[in-house]
Amino acid sequence: MTDDQAAREEQLTADVLASFANTPDPRLRQILESLTRHLHGFLRETRLSEDEWRAGIDFLTRAGHITDDRRQEFVLLSDVLGASMQTIAINNEAYADATEATVLGPFFVEGAPEIEQGGDLSFGAKGQPCYVTGTVRDTSGDPVPGAAIEVWECDEDGFYDVQYADGDRTAARGRLTADANGEFRFWALTPVPYPIPHDGPVGALLAASERSPMRAPHLHFLVSASGKRTLITHIFVAGEELERGDAVFGVKRSLIREFEQQPAGSTPPDGRDLRGQSWSKVRFDIVLAPAGV
Ligand SMILES: [Fe+2]
Repeated sequence: MTDDQAAREEQLTADVLASFANTPDPRLRQILESLTRHLHGFLRETRLSEDEWRAGIDFLTRAGHITDDRRQEFVLLSDVLGASMQTIAINNEAYADATEATVLGPFFVEGAPEIEQGGDLSFGAKGQPCYVTGTVRDTSGDPVPGAAIEVWECDEDGFYDVQYADGDRTAARGRLTADANGEFRFWALTPVPYPIPHDGPVGALLAASERSPMRAPHLHFLVSASGKRTLITHIFVAGEELERGDAVFGVKRSLIREFEQQPAGSTPPDGRDLRGQSWSKVRFDIVLAPAGV
């Protein structure tokens, strides 16, 4: 590249940076300037062709078109690029023994149905019953009574309720409240691996880079309590499915749990009649960091 060419490219970047110089909000100005520097750096480093630029615009356009109330292609894109996990890493610094965070994912829905302690949040979704128990505590070890716990997962076919073809059925999601001792117990389904939706542009990106769309089997949690940092996390099922990796880089060692398989016909701790089905059990003790750390 000639010096003239390099100077033209650098001048353009400088002009764009200068255009944001009067942004009143200093944080917005910082973000726009950094975005400009990195975006121009990317274009110049790769010597992006005009066809490639059009392909990028087309990719984002398709991501927009496939996105609606039930399908969020941009969250998927952020997830497979590791941008979601990097943002979580930056914003959830390790604090004492607080439980680690991981991705929210695209399938959280506000207003999940309330269940009682010991209730079943499968709401008819297919899968092996799983008895989940644990305690919510703070980093001093004291219980957090009344912590709000939201849980969601896919069914045994790998689908979340929002992916069902038959409309607005709610299944395999629910919310409950930790009791006076910070304890909780409920029935869910033993998690299974599932592919992230890969019939759209993000799926094409994964295919072009010979990456798997599969997520390691997991159970989603969102736990909140006043004065505590809200925890968005999963627990992952220990075992061979986990070894195959995770399309969104969500696995952390501290979040892997044994989901202990129980023989068909055995009686669970709450005496529930499982009609001869096998079941599993898992314990997840949750530690919440204080808010603002
Ligand atoms: Fe998930």
